[in-house]
Amino acid sequence: MTKTTISVIKADVGSLPGHIEAPEQLIQVCDEHLNKAVEDGIINDYYLTRCGDDIEFIMTHFKGVDNKEVHKLAWDGFKKAADKAKELKLYGAGQDLLKDSFSGNVKGMGPGVAEMEFEERGSDPIIVFCADKTEPAAFNLPMYKIFADAFNTAGLVIDPNCHEGFTFEVHDIKKGKKIMINTPEEVYDLLSLIGTTPTYVVKRVFRKSDKEIAAVVCTEKLSHIAGKYVGKDDPVAIVRCQSGFPAVGEVLEPFTFPHLVAGFMRGSHRGPLMPVSEADAVIGRFDGPPRIIALGFQVCNGKLVGPKDLFADISFDNARQKANDISDYMRRHGPFEPHRLSAEELEYSTLPDIVEKMKDRFKDI
Ligand code: F6R
Ligand code: MG
Ligand code: MG
Repeated sequence: MTKTTISVIKADVGSLPGHIEAPEQLIQVCDEHLNKAVEDGIINDYYLTRCGDDIEFIMTHFKGVDNKEVHKLAWDGFKKAADKAKELKLYGAGQDLLKDSFSGNVKGMGPGVAEMEFEERGSDPIIVFCADKTEPAAFNLPMYKIFADAFNTAGLVIDPNCHEGFTFEVHDIKKGKKIMINTPEEVYDLLSLIGTTPTYVVKRVFRKSDKEIAAVVCTEKLSHIAGKYVGKDDPVAIVRCQSGFPAVGEVLEPFTFPHLVAGFMRGSHRGPLMPVSEADAVIGRFDGPPRIIALGFQVCNGKLVGPKDLFADISFDNARQKANDISDYMRRHGPFEPHRLSAEELEYSTLPDIVEKMKDRFKDI
């Protein structure tokens, strides 16, 4: 049977004002590009969205993950949008396109990618998450709760198809290594790694009983690709739901807790991850707080039905209020940790220069 592929590819190719929002002019360019790709049969279907200064292409096709034609399509679309951004002198025009020309796969070239391929079930609900002003490890805590915490996901206890647990593929993004960890039996090992967010990132989750793909997160780190800070690694993720996977509500539940993530102002501060509607995915105070949207689709014969804007629901109002309160509290720390990231994690830093400039003035205590 033909397998369906969901490819979510994103990039920040310019925004206004500053790093606040990818404007309508860029969305239009991308929409025309993707529309033509459907006509040309490169993809079956797409939904175009933005979260803050990032544009996301949510595409379906039958060509499998890492497909050259689909990746080139995304690259060319972002390139066209970047050209438009340059014409309008938008801020950060073309910032995530780190190479001059496409070379087979967008991975390592700047855009972020989350893709999964599966044989469609009788009905296949998925949720696509898109975040801005944060990093891939922002998904570590929610992925743990969704797939390994019985206080979040009732199905782990009472659904026979979830009960055996899930396997986490964790990447060490500094060393470029990966490990598979089974839950529930290795939950403490898993937590010890993925609680260390600057290093370990949940990449994929599989249902343990049949190794069926359940979730995928984009883990590209722009600074690792370019060797220096060049922009933010605002991540996307795809999660499959229902009938042996966590229910839609179980997948959304972790986001009622606006946990602290890195990425607020200059990618160098921690702030709460605020769940918002598509309309509110516009960055506000202090280039934040970090934001996330959740779009629900039904996958139908290789096409997308939907989306439903899931965080638009009033049941996330408390989380938004909490995120605003936490932002007030964190901001009061100004340049102090733990609001500011540790010296090793900072994306901008004057510290080495200051230590150098003052080194002769340091005396023994
Ligand atoms: C970008 C981001 C922003 C910028 C900040 C400074 O996504 O997180 O907080 O880091 O606006 O930007 P530059 O260095 O471009 O002036
Ligand atoms: Mg930007
Ligand atoms: Mg961004």
